[in-house]
Amino acid sequence: MANITSVKAIQILDSRGLPTVSCRVETDDGLSAISKVPSGASTGEREALELRDGGNEYLGKGVLKAVKNINTKLADVLIGMDARNQFEIDQALIDLDGTPAKKNLGANAILAASIATLRSGAKSAKLPLYEHVNNLYCSEFKANKQLSLPVPMLNIINGGEHANNNIDIQEFMVMPIGAGSFNECMQWAIEIYGALKSLLASKGLSTAVGDEGGFAPDLKSNQEAIELILKSIEDCGLEAGKDIVLALDCAASEFFTDGKYVLKGENKSLDSNGFVDYLKSLVSSYPIRSIEDGMDENDFDGWSMLTNELANSIQIVGDDLFVTNVKDLQHGIDKSLANSILIKLNQIGTVSETLGAINLASQNNYSAVISHRSGETEDNTIADICVGVSAGQIKTGAPCRSDRTSKYNRLLWIESDLGNSVSYANELFL
Ligand code: PGA
Ligand code: ZN
Repeated sequence: MANITSVKAIQILDSRGLPTVSCRVETDDGLSAISKVPSGASTGEREALELRDGGNEYLGKGVLKAVKNINTKLADVLIGMDARNQFEIDQALIDLDGTPAKKNLGANAILAASIATLRSGAKSAKLPLYEHVNNLYCSEFKANKQLSLPVPMLNIINGGEHANNNIDIQEFMVMPIGAGSFNECMQWAIEIYGALKSLLASKGLSTAVGDEGGFAPDLKSNQEAIELILKSIEDCGLEAGKDIVLALDCAASEFFTDGKYVLKGENKSLDSNGFVDYLKSLVSSYPIRSIEDGMDENDFDGWSMLTNELANSIQIVGDDLFVTNVKDLQHGIDKSLANSILIKLNQIGTVSETLGAINLASQNNYSAVISHRSGETEDNTIADICVGVSAGQIKTGAPCRSDRTSKYNRLLWIESDLGNSVSYANELFL
């Protein structure tokens, strides 16, 4: 018994204080579950539609139309269906909308219902959420995935669209690959984060944080941000390149103007060739193991160049490039662009399509990094998805602010519950 008896949505608030959609699904076994959807700032052009009300109320960002769609049209379709049948449910929602970008009902409406169903289905199946995800994934794609705890990418300096400082690269992240467990990895991350705070304060730099909980000081260059992080790692008695490696998200589409990569903070304007060289020199000078959105989302020649130059030595992640869409990912695979995909549920709008993108990546030896958005909530479903599909990596901000730590806290619980039966995915990187 897990037939859906009620589907109800309301408008709630995200971490930026802006409206977002929350949905509750109830089943005839007396159980229920709630979802809350996130929202991006540096969004990709090809992402599914986030339906906003416009007008004056809530700065034009209200989501009452999306809420109404759930409470009427989506509820009509979902009531009576079995919440454990995620793929069937998502297909019904995709068919109801009828457009590739979910323009009729809104991807925020559809995703809220899809995640609430996933959570509700797990409860009805009497399984932890990660196990329900694992069962769904393995049976749909005839895969054999063991559970694993991910290596996190912790974004400890914020720039770009996520802060009002002068840093052009959006995210400077640490990956504690040398830790022996997820728990130890979080301890290291907290220590580095604390050392960085002291270091910034000692230099008279701001310790206020950006959208993802990382510090957002004004600095002279991207290199200065990296060097501050390296010093903080050293101050903790850890070794950069061995215990900790660095990851960047350039979010390059945000500073690509008229065919040039414009680094305002450094007074540089570079063509694709020049920006690939810039990134290559960062990689040769610093222990950087992963670069996300190093090129603009439509600069496919630039992506091809970057992949040729760096994909043998580091991870090249497509976020705005692939928007969690199997069509865009297949295009990238065919053209050998990147070697990894960032996975964001709200870029595509259903759990099933998200799992499909992870599966396509896995079949083509692309890694998958499960990700939050810069506008988040306390919903921590991505932690369970990451463990359930054994993605090996999660990107969910600094170890600071509840919207970010809710995911890390969930992973700490999962590791504690699973104990030695599950591995921390660091062997992927050692
Ligand atoms: P966004 O940023 O959620 O603002 O798009 C995250 C990212 O670019 O990875
Ligand atoms: Zn990104």
